[in-house]
Amino acid sequence: MNSAKYLSVFTPATEQQRKENFEDYWQFTQQHGGELFEAEKDLAKKRARLKYFKDNPVKLRTPLADPEAFYRNYIEMKDDPKSLDRMTLMLTGMYKFARHEWVGIKGAWDVVPDMANSHSLEDKISRVHLAEEFCHWRLFDEMLRTCGLDKVEWVPLSPVKEWIYEQFPKFPGFLMDTPAFVTELMGVTYYFCLHRLFDDLLADEPEVCVRLKELLDEITIDEVAHVGQRRNFIGPIGTKISKLLVKPFYTMFFNDIPEVGQLFDVKQMIKDGEDFDFNEVPHYMVERSWIPSYCKI
Ligand SMILES: [Fe+2]
Ligand SMILES: [Fe+2]
Repeated sequence: MNSAKYLSVFTPATEQQRKENFEDYWQFTQQHGGELFEAEKDLAKKRARLKYFKDNPVKLRTPLADPEAFYRNYIEMKDDPKSLDRMTLMLTGMYKFARHEWVGIKGAWDVVPDMANSHSLEDKISRVHLAEEFCHWRLFDEMLRTCGLDKVEWVPLSPVKEWIYEQFPKFPGFLMDTPAFVTELMGVTYYFCLHRLFDDLLADEPEVCVRLKELLDEITIDEVAHVGQRRNFIGPIGTKISKLLVKPFYTMFFNDIPEVGQLFDVKQMIKDGEDFDFNEVPHYMVERSWIPSYCKI
């Protein structure tokens, strides 16, 4: 664990610092993901990593006791969540989190400029960022398959919700940047909780436990970098507003996924978001990720 190497993610930065950090992030992201395959919404290094996982599959020693409980509740919770075992809740919750992410990026991909039409560094960064998010969705799908759930379908949200997600990236930056940043932060908070839960629920399944952590780490390392990158879009006032948005955003989003409240302490998650400063990010993740210079001591 790193002790106090980093400052709060809500530390204000000057315009010049942010400009330099965008340049630094752009260098980082190109080597991190490798070549962008625009038509496939994919990145070379991420694709290779996923292929490695698929070519070397691991399986549960004991298959899920009640996969039907997953299939009955994964798109919409039909049973009383209190009646479900924690493994099922964890898996349906993961699907729902990933589904929101998938819907959000589908909406954004068609709206933001493609790489050929990205003229600013911010636009280029955003294009690669979205491709990374598509890779996360594939990694989540692989996590569910690793647990034997190979009949999962990725279902759009209701037309109204899909429409809302499609409008979001069309908003001007001053409206869109703060919620986009808080959403990335929420992802990191959730993934850290999930990582701990794997140890808890998969003590008798060491191979699958290791594999799920490897798959999740691929996502979390990107998301830690996204937190810093999206933070870099925001000036001093927006930074203050973002901190105020953590509580309502986390509350609203996790209310929509009842599994999260069953498995985790949402109040603590909100506190973790408000207090986030990169010090809890393990060293092996920091090494592969990106942190803004103004968050370093
Ligand atoms: Fe993501
Ligand atoms: Fe992200």
